[in-house]
Amino acid sequence: MRPMHHIISTKEYTREMFDNILELAEKLEPVACGEIKSEIMAGKILALLFFEPSTRTRMSFEVAMLRLGGQILNMGSVEASSIAKGESLADTIRVISQYADAAILRHPREGAALMASEYSSIPIINGGDGAGHHPTQTLLDLYTIKRESHLDNLNIALAGDLKYGRTIHSLCYALSRYDAKINLVSPPELRLPDRIAEDLKMRKIDITITDNLEDVIEEVDVLYMTRIQKERFPDPAEFTSVSASMRITREMIQNAKPDMKIMHPLPRISEIDPDVDATPHAAYFEQAFYGVPVRMAILCKVLGMEDKI
Ligand code: NCD
Repeated sequence: MRPMHHIISTKEYTREMFDNILELAEKLEPVACGEIKSEIMAGKILALLFFEPSTRTRMSFEVAMLRLGGQILNMGSVEASSIAKGESLADTIRVISQYADAAILRHPREGAALMASEYSSIPIINGGDGAGHHPTQTLLDLYTIKRESHLDNLNIALAGDLKYGRTIHSLCYALSRYDAKINLVSPPELRLPDRIAEDLKMRKIDITITDNLEDVIEEVDVLYMTRIQKERFPDPAEFTSVSASMRITREMIQNAKPDMKIMHPLPRISEIDPDVDATPHAAYFEQAFYGVPVRMAILCKVLGMEDKI
């Protein structure tokens, strides 16, 4: 019997669940950077089902599996699969369940991963469902905060597209388990959806809302920037009007705390001036690396291998 464990959203996660994965990731870091060899996943196959573009999520799951001695089964592009003939997601999942031991799914429709989990006999990992959730990104974001800053008494700004940004939605729920102070920074059109703001209020989280980064930049420990999610705008004209409004430059961070860290799930478009990359504040490329040990930990968890680490 395979242990069954889907990863769909961070909403129901407790602090203990987050901490447990972060601890496993820490142990796996030497394997993630190739210092120590591992065969924990020998004989295991991870299916990659990407219905939307991806670089980091796809490749860091691939490298995580490969460095643990496992293998990858990639569905490839939607155009090259039977989806292009009109096959349903439910049928695709039923079939892939018989080929692989776990699957990572990225899909443009909110709720797709939850739906897939209902048809799957293997663990489904949500790699992003439309403007919904992105739980594995959140786990690596927490890990980055823990490594590069601190999770206790954290003062964080979440900036950019809070409306459509799924990384933000998942991160908000996670930060609520750490009693972080959250500063929401976005143009008024791109505020956090009401249902999430309500949930945070119920969890009694300390929140401020502004449309100006300069209001919070000097007080935060972490500035989490995000891309305006162009592909989710129903009206392209609306995108054009907000796209230039959030941009961080070297001048703007001059009076930030010396150990303030800037994070970004990437890809960045114009939200962070490349001049910022060489400052000690930039943590986004380290963040991309941390995706590897964290996704190793996630794979060990869903496949019931954590005792072997
Ligand atoms: C994010 C996503 O796909 O939601 N990318 C990622 O997984 N690192 C962020 C984005 O696309 O803006």
